Amino acid sequence: MSKKVAVFRREHFNAAHRLFNAAWDDATNEKVFGKCALPNYHGHNYELEVKVVGKPNKDTGYVMDMKDLGDLIKREIHSRFDHKNLNLDTKEFKNVNPTAENIVVVIYQLLRPHIDKKLEMQVRLYETPRNFVEYPVD
Ligand code: NI
Repeated sequence: MSKKVAVFRREHFNAAHRLFNAAWDDATNEKVFGKCALPNYHGHNYELEVKVVGKPNKDTGYVMDMKDLGDLIKREIHSRFDHKNLNLDTKEFKNVNPTAENIVVVIYQLLRPHIDKKLEMQVRLYETPRNFVEYPVD
């Protein structure tokens, strides 16, 4: 097969966060971020979808071994973020506001070096069933 195919792996993690801009006072943070700025944090059930695009390998018929992709996500993402407080427990969000937008970019940057350069990759992150983000954008 010489046509490109997209393969997807879905994983899940739970994490707590608080949206907050340290340069602003509490009233401004509350105005901009609402309940998301509450000082005692809140949690989300994040659903992560990693999309990998390429031509299936001649010998295996795989674009990428999905087990390897699942293992990679567990190693790079779960181990860092699952059941963590993103603001307090991770170095990635010590100084970065853990919005879905920022989280999806961080996840992409953590995974990309481990995936064959010949393959395109995109990450989608659901913060709630209705709110989700995607990176990179064409
Ligand atoms: Ni939130």
